[in-house]
Amino acid sequence: MYIAHTIAELRDHLAAFKRPAFVPTMGNLHDGHLALIRQAKPLGDVTVASIFVNRLQFLPHEDFDTYPRTWDSDCEKLRAAGCDVLFAPDEKALYPEPQTCKVHPDPALADILEGHFRPGFFVGVCTVVMKLFQCVQPRVAVFGKKDYQQLMMIRHMVRQFALPIEIVGSETFRADDGLALSSRNGYLNNGERAEAVQLSKALKAMAEAVQAGERDLAAIEARAMQALTERGWQPDYLVLRRRTDLQAPTFGMNGEPLVALAAARLGGTRLIDNLEIEAPAS
Ligand code: PAF
Repeated sequence: MYIAHTIAELRDHLAAFKRPAFVPTMGNLHDGHLALIRQAKPLGDVTVASIFVNRLQFLPHEDFDTYPRTWDSDCEKLRAAGCDVLFAPDEKALYPEPQTCKVHPDPALADILEGHFRPGFFVGVCTVVMKLFQCVQPRVAVFGKKDYQQLMMIRHMVRQFALPIEIVGSETFRADDGLALSSRNGYLNNGERAEAVQLSKALKAMAEAVQAGERDLAAIEARAMQALTERGWQPDYLVLRRRTDLQAPTFGMNGEPLVALAAARLGGTRLIDNLEIEAPAS
């Protein structure tokens, strides 16, 4: 695996390839990331991953400083997964001057849900992804569906800027008990880890209620909020939204595809998850 620490090294190395397939990450890699690498591999003529903990997408009180940096094991895992090139710039290499020119995604999508609870988060994400796209110049990029809103935002950005990049969404990788894999799961103690599966269970219960024909979505959401709160969680949101734009659906929605999305804090750890729901008949 070739490791580039600067944009110039990366561009030199990638000049020989026509169709880079790209997986951006912030490191602290788990099996979910490696599944993205394996999915990217047959889609291009060179597989590129990046590791960059992007300060721009962290709020001042969030975990930028303590975000786990696990360089040696990340490199080992990427090699084993068949990654060809790792782009790992430091902050000076990616942001040699303050990044005052930023991508401001559509507020209709960027200011709800994650964007509501983490203001500016998607400006940070879109800005770094746009910059990484300029560095790697991929033809295809793979993002996990676990960050559902992020994936939608990236698709929208790529479409609006006519970037010649195919965005592939990859199914969420789950532990045996159903917990969505996340770098932040490492913050959970043993008791919290056992409890954490309740987030995906809450989403499943919401999906089952919709599929069973219940149409009072507010009641379904309120029940899910209450169930998690009673177990000691601090939920930010548990909602049912249209898959097309993440807005609240209107009934009779006539088979409109839905997604249940959740973010909740368990102890000091904020977890997110989502579940696509098969279109219910009206
Ligand atoms: O999903 C992530 O890990 C990050 O948001 C990303 C896409 C690598 C941008 O920093």
